[in-house]
Amino acid sequence: MKAIEASSLTFSYDEEMEALHGLSFSLDKGEYLAVIGHNGSGKSTLAKILVGLLMDFDGEIKIFDLPLNKKNLGKIRSKVAIVFQNQDNQFVGSTVADDIAFGLENKNVPHDKMQSIIDEYALKVGMDKYLDKAPENLSGGQKQRVAIAGVLAMHPDLFFLDEATSMLDPVGKREILELVGKMRKENPDLTVVSITHDVEEAALADKVMVLDKGNMVLFGSPKEVFANKEILKSVNLEQPYFMRLIEALKENGIYVPDNINNISELEDFLCR
Ligand SMILES: Nc1ncnc2c1ncn2[C@@H]1O[C@H](COP(=O)(O)OP(=O)(O)O)[C@@H](O)[C@H]1O
Ligand SMILES: [Mg+2]
Repeated sequence: MKAIEASSLTFSYDEEMEALHGLSFSLDKGEYLAVIGHNGSGKSTLAKILVGLLMDFDGEIKIFDLPLNKKNLGKIRSKVAIVFQNQDNQFVGSTVADDIAFGLENKNVPHDKMQSIIDEYALKVGMDKYLDKAPENLSGGQKQRVAIAGVLAMHPDLFFLDEATSMLDPVGKREILELVGKMRKENPDLTVVSITHDVEEAALADKVMVLDKGNMVLFGSPKEVFANKEILKSVNLEQPYFMRLIEALKENGIYVPDNINNISELEDFLCR
C-alpha cells in the first residue's frame, strides 16, 4: 500500500507566486523519506498540505489510499502527525506531562493507561525528569524532545518531522533519529517524512526528495539522487560524506566497488 500518492500537486499562498509546482511522487507504507532543499523551497508547505493543514491545493493527493479532501480529513488526521521546528505554538499543556497527555486524550486513551504511556515516552526522549516543568521554561532542544514524545506516544501511521531536531546538538539529533529508527523496527508500517538540512541523514533514508523553488528536482533512492552531482550543485547541496570520500579515494587510484551505499559499508570495505 502507498502511504502517500501525490499527482500534479500545485499550491499558492497568493496570486503572485506558486509555492509548489506540479509535484508527482509516491511513498510506500513503512518507508522513510528525507526532504531536502534550501529555505523557501517549499518543504514546510508540502508537509502542511500532506497533513491536511492547507487544503486549497490543485492536483490529487491520497493518504493511505484515501483522497485528501474535506470528507476524509478527520480520518486522515487521525493517522498523521507532525512536529515543527518551532514548538512554541504547539504546546497546550501547563506541564510537560499535561502536554503529552493532551494528545493521548484526543486519541481517547483511557485515563488509567495514560500515566504509564507518558512516563514511557518522556523516558524515550530523555525528558523523564522534566514531567512537572512548564514547557515554556525549557530550552529549544528540550521543547523539541517533548513535542516528539507527545507525537510518538499517539502512534501515528505517518509521521512528519519538519526540522524538528534543528535545535538539538549532534548527539541529541542522533538520539532522536535512533529512537525513530527503533519505533520503525517495532512497527514496520510506520511511515516517516523527515524534512532536514542534513544530507548525512538523507543518505540513510529509503527515498530522498530535493525541492528547489517549489519544484521537485530529484526524487529516488539516496544513491540515485546523490549521483546527480551537477543538479545538486545547482541547488547548492553537497553529496553525503561517504560519496565524497569514495570519489576522493577513486581519484587517488584506490578501487572502490559500486555497491557501497553508506559510510559503514565503506568502512567495512576499507578494513578488509
Ligand atoms: N503563510 C504564508 N503566506 C505566504 N507565503 C508563504 C507562507 N508560508 C510560506 N510562504 C512562501 O512559500 C514559499 C515556500 O515556503 P516554505 O514551504 O516555508 O519553505 P521551506 O520550508 O522549504 O523553507 C516561500 O517563498 C515562502 O515565502
Ligand atoms: Mg520550513
